[in-house]
Amino acid sequence: MPTTFPRHSSAFWAGPHPPTWIAEYVASAARPYREDILDALAMLAPFASVYELGCHAGPMLTAVRTRWPDVTLAGCDVSAEAVAQCSARLNAGVIVGDLRAALPTLATNGVDVILTCYTLAYVSASDLPTVLREVRRVARVGCVFAEPMDLGDDVVWDEQWDCGTRHKYLEALAGLSKSRHLRTLRRPWHEGLNAVLAARW
Ligand SMILES: C[S@@+](CC[C@H](N)C(=O)[O-])C[C@H]1O[C@@H](n2cnc3c(N)ncnc32)[C@H](O)[C@@H]1O
Repeated sequence: MPTTFPRHSSAFWAGPHPPTWIAEYVASAARPYREDILDALAMLAPFASVYELGCHAGPMLTAVRTRWPDVTLAGCDVSAEAVAQCSARLNAGVIVGDLRAALPTLATNGVDVILTCYTLAYVSASDLPTVLREVRRVARVGCVFAEPMDLGDDVVWDEQWDCGTRHKYLEALAGLSKSRHLRTLRRPWHEGLNAVLAARW
């Protein structure tokens, strides 16, 4: 298994991308796995703000807005093209930026919930602990991570997704959160997305 992956680099995500790239993400807002992620987010209610790391054109934030119309939305993504689309489609405070640089600019307890959907998979194992400490500092209530996860299972990771090791989020958050709720997603998985974890501090 290689130890470095193209998608761990912001340069890969910054583009350029195929012409259908934005439209495919926009269309994914209604895919069934997003409902499972919303159900996990509901476990952290009540919350007034959600910040998504790697929000792309906003398919996940759109799903959040549909279920919770009054919640304040924000996020970051390294793709300027995706963030421009997100801003155009959604009333949300989204910025172009690497999550590793964006998190330290956010105030302590500055948002209620930090959400990810298939983004921390592109953060290396060596960067993850720092990112999680920042998530713990910035999010007042907790976090929801929908990511390919290493659950100690016998899944053979498919190299086609090219995102390296599946992180062990349950273990990684054990010292940071009081309670963790894990929902394993039913197959067929969306590109290896096998679980969603809601953690309350
Ligand atoms: C697989 S897509 C998922 C997009 C979106 N979260 C969703 O639910 O469909 C991964 C996203 O993470 C972004 N991304 C990857 N690495 C990033 C980083 N270090 N900082 C910020 N965004 C990043 C990419 O630009 C891309 O939009």
